[in-house]
Amino acid sequence: MHVDTARSDYGLVTQLFHWVTAILVVAAYFLGPGGREQRAFSPSMETTRDLHETLGITVFVIVLLRILWRLFEGEVEHPGMASWISYSSKFFHLLLYALLLSIPATAIVGTWLQGHPLTLLVGEFGPFLTQAHDLGTSVMEIHTTLGDVIVWMAGLHAAVAIGHHFFLRDRVLVSMLPEWLIQPRSASRSKSAHIGT
Ligand code: HEM
Ligand code: HEM
Repeated sequence: MHVDTARSDYGLVTQLFHWVTAILVVAAYFLGPGGREQRAFSPSMETTRDLHETLGITVFVIVLLRILWRLFEGEVEHPGMASWISYSSKFFHLLLYALLLSIPATAIVGTWLQGHPLTLLVGEFGPFLTQAHDLGTSVMEIHTTLGDVIVWMAGLHAAVAIGHHFFLRDRVLVSMLPEWLIQPRSASRSKSAHIGT
């Protein structure tokens, strides 16, 4: 099913998935309903909660699409990279994917177990699980902890990517950036040369 297994840069679709996911995760984090269940599910928190849940579900859908897309695009390999760096970065990415899926999944399960519907901007869904309130509260605690963990991990991940660029001077960061952003001048030069012909 792989179309290309030896890419050294991420394709535009993957880059789009990556940066949209990063923005949505940060937005969902800062738009957290906050506090205990009584506060998070109070009418005054409704708009914030709707936004938080909608952003989070969108992350879930985009990450599932990204995983499917990866089957078509194949893996990216950075030529010349030490194998321990390559393996540890793959492991770190796997952890990020696990968090990106388990954070929304725990939120959906926890909310329904607590007896609340999912309240998205497009409407309400559920609850589709038999109520088990205390279990739901524990699952929501896991959700909020994982929500904090991903932000720290993403911060570390971003710092490592920037370190690759400025200290190791390799193409890791560039591989996740669109070409027009990396070579704006050469792109515009080639455009004007093209116009001149
Ligand atoms: C990547 C996506 C998400 C991230 C990073 C995230 C992160 C967080 C964090 C950090 C908190 C704690 C907020 C605080 O105490 O200030 C929280 C709470 C909460 N989140 Fe999410 N969340 C995500 C997705 C979702 C989704 C999809 C739902 C849908 C059900 C959801 C529902 C909730 C609810 C209801 C609370 C309040 C928890 C409580 O009862 O105390 N979240 N989230
Ligand atoms: C919440 C924020 C972020 C999340 C959840 C996230 C998640 C991920 C994931 C899952 C991958 C693996 C992609 C794949 O192979 O399928 C990845 C790759 C990458 N990310 Fe992020 N990312 C975030 C923010 C950032 C930021 C801010 C930067 C840059 C400053 C960045 C730079 C990169 C780079 C360069 C790669 C490619 C790494 C490589 O091939 O070794 N990411 N990211």
